[in-house]
Amino acid sequence: MTTSSQSSNNPQATSGMWGGRFSEATDAFVAEFTASVQFDQRFYKQDIVGSIAHATMLAKVGVLTEAERNDIVQGLTEIQTQIEAGSFEWRIDLEDVHMNIESRLTDRIGITGKKLHTGRSRNDQVATDIRLYLRDEIDAILVVLQRLQNGILALAAKNTNTIMPGFTHLQTAQPVTFGHHLLAWFEMLVRDTERLQDCRKRVNRMPLGSAALAGTTYPIDRAYTAELLGFEAVSENSLDAVSDRDFAIEFNAAAALIMMHLSRMSEELILWTSAQFKFVQIPDRFCTGSSIMPQKKNPDVPELVRGKSGRVFGDLMSLLTLMKGQPLAYNKDNQEDKEPLFDAIDTVRGSLMAFADMIPALVPNIEIMREAALRGFSTATDLADYLVKKGIAFRDAHEIVGKAVALGVAESKDLSELTLEQLQQFSNLISADVFEQALTLEASVNARNHIGGTAPAQVTAAIARAHTRLAALYNQG
Ligand code: ARG
Repeated sequence: MTTSSQSSNNPQATSGMWGGRFSEATDAFVAEFTASVQFDQRFYKQDIVGSIAHATMLAKVGVLTEAERNDIVQGLTEIQTQIEAGSFEWRIDLEDVHMNIESRLTDRIGITGKKLHTGRSRNDQVATDIRLYLRDEIDAILVVLQRLQNGILALAAKNTNTIMPGFTHLQTAQPVTFGHHLLAWFEMLVRDTERLQDCRKRVNRMPLGSAALAGTTYPIDRAYTAELLGFEAVSENSLDAVSDRDFAIEFNAAAALIMMHLSRMSEELILWTSAQFKFVQIPDRFCTGSSIMPQKKNPDVPELVRGKSGRVFGDLMSLLTLMKGQPLAYNKDNQEDKEPLFDAIDTVRGSLMAFADMIPALVPNIEIMREAALRGFSTATDLADYLVKKGIAFRDAHEIVGKAVALGVAESKDLSELTLEQLQQFSNLISADVFEQALTLEASVNARNHIGGTAPAQVTAAIARAHTRLAALYNQG
């Protein structure tokens, strides 16, 4: 990267691109301050692909000759090779990725390079580039998301019969299967897939042809350019197209929801790996130790992901705030769209990758989960339901069981540890079958046997449906 002091030694640097009306060179600090090449060079590939499509279209409609178009394509292809070899010198005085590449093209192929920008502006160029870039990134994120979803299903399949306490208010509520809990995570992530795929449809529309703001006087064929670039449609209004960043906001909103979900999962993993819960173990390769406390094994990955959710929420707020005061059409403010978008992309992809690796490697402590489910009167609702089936109104059953729980608390015993005689003090409708039918953990989970319920049979069926749903979801995408 050329530094600002070097660019000040090169006052003619920008004049080739737009300096015609200027009488002095840009101040060196201003050049650096207003530049975006430091961060927009990451979509050089999309910039080149977009320029090749634009030049190809210009040749088709007769604005460029075929020979000119071929020279441009050849020059741009060589520049791409140079960039990928690391030998391209990015110049901050050339402001952004677009002008760096265009300027280098002219250095290489001469006057024909200066024709590339015919019928185009950086305003529609940059909007097109970001959409192409984001489209690719969404596709890459969907691949990782699918890997995580499959990992969750694999772990759930091994734990359809693993019983743990389910919580409300973080207090023991009713027994659930671990597989069922994992499928709750899966559902969150399915909605995330749907959101990303829906967002992608609006990303995949082409602003190119809008030029600076009003369109262009050349006989362009926008549909052809769109087809070359794989866009589903062209934008309908040039003013909107060069200024719209809704698609980036939508992506950041979808990314924020993904991070919120990962953060909730993280929180559970952090609780579950604590010495107080001990429900699961995270393999050592996903954890670190403490430099002072030798016993520590910290759940760094979930903690960091929980922390990183904050920056993605911030990225979403940055973009909303960036756009709220902008009049039509393009304003330089829009250059600030990139870093919050890139940060959200990088953070969400990295977090998903860490989870996709970690989740299938989790080791549940089945016995400890089971013991925890036996504490906290998790089958109290089942005893009430048992009494209802014997003819007692639910409210009365609730009262009766409440009294039995009070006895259990006094004697430090679970309901299943009380004797039949003790239970019968509260209702003579309770008979010996109560242990089998209501008070065991298996009876409790097996009884919730309907779609969406926690019964092992339902979890097995839900996993089978989940695989079918994933196949449909990702084939359509
Ligand atoms: N670097 C600019 C951006 O990222 C490109 C578009 C600039 N257009 C302009 N007329 N200054 O938004």
